[in-house]
Amino acid sequence: MLFTTFAAFLSVFTLARALPAPAEEHAKRGLATVYSGCKSANTVAMTFDDGPYIYEQDIVNTLNQNGIKGTFFINGDNWECVYDSSTISSLKSAYNSGHQIGSHTWHHYDLTTLSWDQIHDEMWRTELAMRRILGVAPAIMRPPYGNYNDLVRSASSIRNQSLIIWDFDDGDSTGSSVSQSETDYNNLVKQHPKNVLALNHETYETSAHTVIPYAIKKLKAAGYKFATVSECLGLPAYSWYGAPQKKDSTWTC
Ligand SMILES: *[C@@H]1O[C@H](CO)[C@@H](O)[C@H](O)[C@H]1NC(C)=O
Ligand SMILES: [Zn+2]
Repeated sequence: MLFTTFAAFLSVFTLARALPAPAEEHAKRGLATVYSGCKSANTVAMTFDDGPYIYEQDIVNTLNQNGIKGTFFINGDNWECVYDSSTISSLKSAYNSGHQIGSHTWHHYDLTTLSWDQIHDEMWRTELAMRRILGVAPAIMRPPYGNYNDLVRSASSIRNQSLIIWDFDDGDSTGSSVSQSETDYNNLVKQHPKNVLALNHETYETSAHTVIPYAIKKLKAAGYKFATVSECLGLPAYSWYGAPQKKDSTWTC
């Protein structure tokens, strides 16, 4: 028991120390690529930010019932703690159903206001949670608010991640009503762009239960295929694969 606790402590400590790099490191590592749209034709990538939250399982069910894959950009400690039992359960369900899990960093801070060390701290905590719960490390990261600078890009590069923005926002987090969001999806379908990288939030009941099912129906009827972000960009989904771990007392927010 003592050894297990010590080993767990050591692995957290090692990870914490191994991941952040010194400030001068970022000059020589280059900047992570920033993607604002998909590449494959006739494809929609639906993305769901700010979870895991209480509606995540419902969104997973909707995607599964439609036979399509989506992408969840998760925080660690935002609307809910990523280590809550119900959260772990919906996250595993999303991952095991083949949906992609990307990082949205830990607290949902604006990364452009943070120092080099703070940026790494926000990033590695979420990565650690994914390694523990799912046994993978994310290859994609969406910076909160879509805000990034060169420091964020170099930190992402060091952490083997690409930055993912979006080219369509359903407006749920900025005050759009359900009918506004649905009208925006209708207009999108009328314009029929070659592909769509759509931003939605899993933390609004109306998004989870009304707008997202509506959007999937409309986009499907317009002939689009659905894909994860990595699929629509031809990128790897994860940068590391291991084994999920069992929850213990060190799993805290
Ligand atoms: C990034 O990938 C390289 C090569 O696979 C690996 O050595 C390194 O540990 C990875 N970095 C992180 C932060 O996972
Ligand atoms: Zn967000």
